[in-house]
Amino acid sequence: MEPHFIQANTSGRLHDAREPSLSALDRGFLYGDSVYEVWRTYDGVIFAFEEHWQRLERSARALLLALPVGRAELAAELVRTAAAYVERSGHVGPVYIRVQCSRGAGGIGLDMALAENPTYVVLAQRLRALPVEKLRSGLNLSVARALRRNPREALDPEWKTGNSLNPLLCLREARSRGADEVLIPNLAGQLTEAATANVFFVRRNTIVTPPLSCGLLGGITRALLLERIAARIGATAIEEAITPADLRFFDSCFLASTVNDLVPVATIDTQCYPVDELQLVWKLKAAFQNFASEYAAGHPELRVRTEEAEVAAGAGRAAEAEDACSRRNQEAGQRSETARASLTLPVGPFETSSASGSTRQ
Ligand SMILES: Cc1ncc(COP(=O)(O)O)c(C=O)c1O
Repeated sequence: MEPHFIQANTSGRLHDAREPSLSALDRGFLYGDSVYEVWRTYDGVIFAFEEHWQRLERSARALLLALPVGRAELAAELVRTAAAYVERSGHVGPVYIRVQCSRGAGGIGLDMALAENPTYVVLAQRLRALPVEKLRSGLNLSVARALRRNPREALDPEWKTGNSLNPLLCLREARSRGADEVLIPNLAGQLTEAATANVFFVRRNTIVTPPLSCGLLGGITRALLLERIAARIGATAIEEAITPADLRFFDSCFLASTVNDLVPVATIDTQCYPVDELQLVWKLKAAFQNFASEYAAGHPELRVRTEEAEVAAGAGRAAEAEDACSRRNQEAGQRSETARASLTLPVGPFETSSASGSTRQ
């Protein structure tokens, strides 16, 4: 078992990610002239392949970048890379898989015509999920003050490009105030999203999120919540522009992303929200994870681990989640059996270490 091993695949060649594989003239490195996507596995199967592929295509089209790999080939390479990672590391939990497609290397200069061979690199590693303690206590957010989200008219946040400086610097600003995550306003002062997640608010039985017109990434998790998952639990989902002055009118808040699916938010600067087991986020999270399991059962072609290994991993996860639950209940001392059952979430990339996975994309 090599816990820190990261499997790479450069344009079809599998190798240890610590080995160099790209030219120093690669435009992804020099100019952020690249696009990327992140997938994860549920039940040993790569989740929502098609949705991420389509976003990758849209991002590439926006940058006039010819993707170096087609849909079927990429699906096969993601599976091959993740399977190689699992085999080499012996890892039994969920896997994080990223692909970065660069316009390639060439002469120095911004002119796209200088680019020669476009390349892709797939990286696979264990999914560094949020520690279970943090998941249950909720994230602390801070609204960015010095910086704003890139306007759509400049570098549209809907394009998932290799240039992450805008959210990266916003995150740093919020972290300097002790927050876990940032909420980034646009130039009009409306909230857009977190550094690597979309934001949702809850008003009674309705979930509310800013529209794409505010300038944000159209998250795959966000779209699934709006279009499929909310309806499954009888909730309404709407898009609405939100400013910091609106925060006090919502009942609760959560973030949504591929890596951590749904995570409750406990505070946004001085605004506090409840994160207890009665909050809608837990019901949505369970519904989302059920949906992901159904997807896994229907997509054997995206399986990176045998079902036997998955059963073993599932048992490990359940024991871990149950453990964390009992610890918390012992501390609380008086939670009922029913409440405890509802706190034992169905699928958990739960980790008990202190390393936060909230911003790893
Ligand atoms: C800026 C930003 N917003 C939102 C998200 C969430 O999107 P998804 O649900 O597709 O992971 C991400 C994830 O990478 C992101 O980088």
